[in-house]
Amino acid sequence: MTPTPRVAMFSAQHYDIQSFKQHPLYEQIDLTSFETSLGPKTVSLCQNFDVLCAFVNDCLDNSILHQLSDQGVKHIALRCAGFNNVDTAAAKELGLAVSRVPAYSPEAVAEHALALIMTLNRKTHKAYNRVREGNFNLNGLLGFTLHNKKVGIVGTGHIGAALARLLTGFGCEIYCYDPYPDDALIKQGVVYTSLETLFKECHIISLHCPLNEQSHHLINAESLASMRDGVMLINTSRGGLIDTHAVIEALKKHKIGYLGLDVYEMESELFFRDHSSEIIQDDVFERLQTFHNVLITGHQGFFTAEALDQIAEVTLQNILALNNGTADDSRFVVLPD
Ligand code: NAI
Repeated sequence: MTPTPRVAMFSAQHYDIQSFKQHPLYEQIDLTSFETSLGPKTVSLCQNFDVLCAFVNDCLDNSILHQLSDQGVKHIALRCAGFNNVDTAAAKELGLAVSRVPAYSPEAVAEHALALIMTLNRKTHKAYNRVREGNFNLNGLLGFTLHNKKVGIVGTGHIGAALARLLTGFGCEIYCYDPYPDDALIKQGVVYTSLETLFKECHIISLHCPLNEQSHHLINAESLASMRDGVMLINTSRGGLIDTHAVIEALKKHKIGYLGLDVYEMESELFFRDHSSEIIQDDVFERLQTFHNVLITGHQGFFTAEALDQIAEVTLQNILALNNGTADDSRFVVLPD
């Protein structure tokens, strides 16, 4: 019989632990949870664990992976789809397995992107406060009709495709850019085009590609200059896709008319924790908050009950599959021989 895997879960919130405990496979692992994120100061907590269960902002760079390997960790089980925070080359060299949850309720993230679009456009967050204070004045709440607007989707994998389907229902014209076009979407009427045309033509641009060397700062001063004046930009993917300084300049010049973010380049210092009684030291983030046409949520695109259940199920399956010798490539980014 294979020994029960000892799992250290980092960045563990009560909802993560609850969703794992509710799953029948939970009984087959020995889980210890840490609310803190994984980094140079916390990596020493990983003594005597076989599996490190991590989330989006846990640091898994070369140095941390070496320390994990020295402590006997064999498997990095990510509770997310993106793996930009893992040095996969180092993991491979060290013989560490890296698994992920490739698609947990992509509709959840697509629906959140749509919520950002709808809220920024129709300003329901402002209307809510006004009406509660007895102010029924409509000045400043003017929106635009989504029907017939051109929406650009960068990256049409699970999430981008789900957003394309939703916006097709709104009667939008969908322009897509992806090195691997999706035939099913083409049949539904979307148009694949160059990134340059997408930037130039679209009223709304939503980012759904992974963060990697090619896509880092895809949105920069040059690409912003090529966009329509007053463009709506939505990012629910990864903060590093956007050069935040360039975006602030574009907001000041009215080039960007609406900005909806669920992710932020330096989010690991802020997100998933309560800083409401502290002074936030990140001046760039605070500047973003001063614009009336910027709406930021704290990486909650994935946060639905269905997605949490799916994350728990797939992560538990990944942990047990490696332990039982039945792991396959579909969910493993790195799988040692
Ligand atoms: P996916 O892997 O299904 O799709 C990504 C698509 O992007 C692929 O079709 C790929 O060909 C394309 N792509 C790769 N490089 C590109 C580039 N330079 N330009 C344009 N397209 C490119 O990924 P999925 O599940 O759709 O997730 C997308 C991203 O969403 C993830 O990488 C992750 O960063 C983010 N995400 C955010 C969440 C949140 O809570 N806000 C939750 C889950 C994922």
